[in-house]
Amino acid sequence: MTTLEKIVSLCKRRGFVYPSSEIYGGFASIYDFGPYGVELENNIKREWWKYMVQDREDIVGLDSAIFMHPKIWHASGHVGGFADPLTECKKCHNRFRGDHLLNEIGVSADEKMSEEEISALFDSNRDKLKCPVCGKNDFTEIKKFNILVKSNLGNLTGNLDDENTVYLRGETCQGIYVNFKNVLDSTRVKIPFGIAQIGKAFRNEVTARQFIFRTREFEQMEMQYFLHPDQEMEEYEKLKEYRWKFYINLGLKEKNLKWHQHEKLVFYAKAAYDIEYNFPFGFDELEGLHARGDYDLTQHSKFSGQDLSYLDPDTSKPFIPHIIESSVGVGRIFLAVICEAYTEEKLENGEIRTVLKFKPNMAPFKAAVFPLLKNKPELVKKAREIFDLVKENFVCEFDDNGNIGKRYRRQDEIGTPYCITVDFDSLEKKDVTVRDRDTMKQERIKIDNLVEYLRDRLK
Ligand code: GAP
Repeated sequence: MTTLEKIVSLCKRRGFVYPSSEIYGGFASIYDFGPYGVELENNIKREWWKYMVQDREDIVGLDSAIFMHPKIWHASGHVGGFADPLTECKKCHNRFRGDHLLNEIGVSADEKMSEEEISALFDSNRDKLKCPVCGKNDFTEIKKFNILVKSNLGNLTGNLDDENTVYLRGETCQGIYVNFKNVLDSTRVKIPFGIAQIGKAFRNEVTARQFIFRTREFEQMEMQYFLHPDQEMEEYEKLKEYRWKFYINLGLKEKNLKWHQHEKLVFYAKAAYDIEYNFPFGFDELEGLHARGDYDLTQHSKFSGQDLSYLDPDTSKPFIPHIIESSVGVGRIFLAVICEAYTEEKLENGEIRTVLKFKPNMAPFKAAVFPLLKNKPELVKKAREIFDLVKENFVCEFDDNGNIGKRYRRQDEIGTPYCITVDFDSLEKKDVTVRDRDTMKQERIKIDNLVEYLRDRLK
C-alpha cells in the first residue's frame, strides 16, 4: 500500500525532497527540492506552460514580482479576511486549524466561515475532538489568524502602520490582475483572453502536516481568463473540462480524480469547484477553478483609482471584465504524480521492488548509462561515448556506483524508464543492453539505432 510515510522516505532517500535547513534542526513546513525533485518540478511546469500558454492562441504569459504595492492586499480582501481558524491544544501546545479538526470527525467546515460560525460549530463538537499529536481533548477558543506573510522591505522610516506593511504575495494572481491593462495595451489580445503565470506564493499556514501538500512557501500555476459576463459560465465549463484533461495527460488515473463543488460561495463568486486527487491521506484539493465575477478588477479599479474597464468593440460600451480562474500548486501536482507512480512489486525471489512508474514526460531522467564494470577503462570509455550520444537527445545520467543490481534499484526508485549497459560484447558487436523499467526485460540494441529506439518509446 502507498502510504505517505513511504513517499516521504523515498523522496528523501532518492534526492527528490529534503526538509528545509535540516542541519539546523529543520524549519517547519518548508521543503527543498533535490536533484531529481527539481527535474520533476521543471517537467510539471513545462507541461503546464505548454498546455496553458503555448498551445493556446488566447492565453499569454507573465512573470510579475513577488513584492507588490501594499494596497493590493487591501483591495483583494486579504488584509481583512485571509485568515484561518486557529486553535491550540492546551496540553501539548501544538496549533491546529479548527476546520481541519472538525473535518476529521466528519463535520463539514472550511476557512471561509466567519469566526462566529466556526467557533459555534467547534464548541458544539468540542467533546468529540482529539488532539492529533497528544490525543488529549482540551483546546483553546477558535481565533482567526491572518496568514499573509509580512516583510520589512525597503528603507521605510517612521511607523510601519498596517497601510504601509509590505507582504510576500499570498497568491500569484494579484500580479495578473494589476497587469491586466498593461497586457491589453501592449499586446494583440482581445477579450476573451487569459494571462498565466508560475511563481512563488507565501502563507503563514497554521498546520504543518501532509508533507508538501500544504507548505508556507510554495509555487502556484495560475491562469486568469478575462471575459464578457455573458461568456462566463460557458467558458467556465470549457475550462473545467480542459483542466481535467491536463491531469489525465500527466498520467493520473481517472479513478483517483474527482470534482468537489463548493456549496458555500464567497459573495461575489458564481461557481467554485476543486479537482481533488486521491492522496494517501484521502481525496483532497489539487486545483481550484473559480468563476469570480467582476470582483477583482472592480476592487483594483476602486483602490487604484484607475479605470480597468474594457470597451466592447461591438457595442462600444465599456464593461468591467469578469474572470474565471484555474489555480494549482506545483507541489500538489508533484505529490500526486509521485503517489500515482509509486509501485511495489514482489519479485520471484521474494524481494520487494519499489519503482516509480512515471509517464516518460514526467520522469526526471529518461535514461541512465552504465559501464558494466567501473574498473575497466575500455568499458568506461565506451559508456562515456554512449552517454554523450544519449544526453544530446534526452536528459540522462551516467552511473558507475556499486554493482549493476544496485544501480537498477536506484534508477527504478527515481523512475528512469531505460537503463543502458555497456559490456565487453558492446566493444565487439557495437551494441548495448537496454533494460525497460516497467517490464525489466532486456534487449540488445545496436548503438547506431539507440537514439531512435529511445525516441520511439519516450514519445
Ligand atoms: N488565486 C486563488 C488561490 O490562490 P487557493 O485555493 O488559496 O486559491 C489555489 O489556492 C491552489 O494553490 C490550491 O488548489 C493548491 O493547489 C495551491 N495551494 C494553496 N495553498 C497551498 C499551500 N499552503 N501549500 C501548497 N499548495 C497550496
